[in-house]
Amino acid sequence: MQALIETLKPGSPDHALALSLDPARIPAHIGIIMDGNGRWANRRSLPRVAGHKAGVVPVRTAVETCARLGVQSLTLYAFSVENWKRPRTEVETLWQLLRFYLGRELARLCANNIRLRAIGRIDILPPSVRRELDAAIGATSANSGLVLNLAINYGGRSEIVDAVNSILQRASESGSLDSLVIDEDAISQNLYTSGQPELDLLIRTSGELRVSNFLLWQIAYAELYITDTLWPDFDRRALLEAIAAFQKRDRRFGGLRPASAHSAPSPSSMEPVGSPSS
Ligand code: FPP
Repeated sequence: MQALIETLKPGSPDHALALSLDPARIPAHIGIIMDGNGRWANRRSLPRVAGHKAGVVPVRTAVETCARLGVQSLTLYAFSVENWKRPRTEVETLWQLLRFYLGRELARLCANNIRLRAIGRIDILPPSVRRELDAAIGATSANSGLVLNLAINYGGRSEIVDAVNSILQRASESGSLDSLVIDEDAISQNLYTSGQPELDLLIRTSGELRVSNFLLWQIAYAELYITDTLWPDFDRRALLEAIAAFQKRDRRFGGLRPASAHSAPSPSSMEPVGSPSS
């Protein structure tokens, strides 16, 4: 976190916001649904793709801010398995932007010790995109700081299906299908994000109240932060505000607050209160 504070102008709002954060409660894994590029462009009477182009700027900001804060993993939803339904020209622009981003940012990813990964069914991406992605992943593979997962041709349901199929295939190869029991650990260990921390904070820009097939397994106990800010306007301050809001949440993972903060309920206060866990 000190690494971030050192880059900020003393007395600036971002500096004050960063100083107000608790370094012990920085989310280990943040996921972002980068939404609102099209609306950002519409409001300026620009074509939709102008919104996607403008959306590359906050990608760099979010990535480098997370790296300096000491976040362990950042997962960005860049292209869903459903996004193929968009016009071909828009899809092609997204691939061009991804290649542009990889070409322009690789040196900075390395300078910031960031390890790039891709999650999703990337085997069916256009070969030129796949080549550049593989090269960037290879070039950053020895970096030990932030893990940046780009979710590309990603779907949360497909990820779970792929995990189950991997488990079945390995059991079949080792002749242990008959005794196979699939538990939660087995699925977690076969997700694209295997080995990375659980998702702590899910941010969605542009105000939509949906999870849109993003990290369905991993968000089980994530804190949700939805802002009306459109993705191209999501700057460093907006990200720091999201983390500050996260740090104010009372996370109980279905349990209770520590005993010191609670007294035993009296019989009269033991009526059902709604959800089985919170
Ligand atoms: C959703 O906004 C955004 C996308 C489907 C693409 C996200 C892509 C970028 C931010 C740029 C490139 C990314 C990288 C990683 C280099 P939308 O088009 O659905 O917006 P709308 O809901 O307002 O129409």
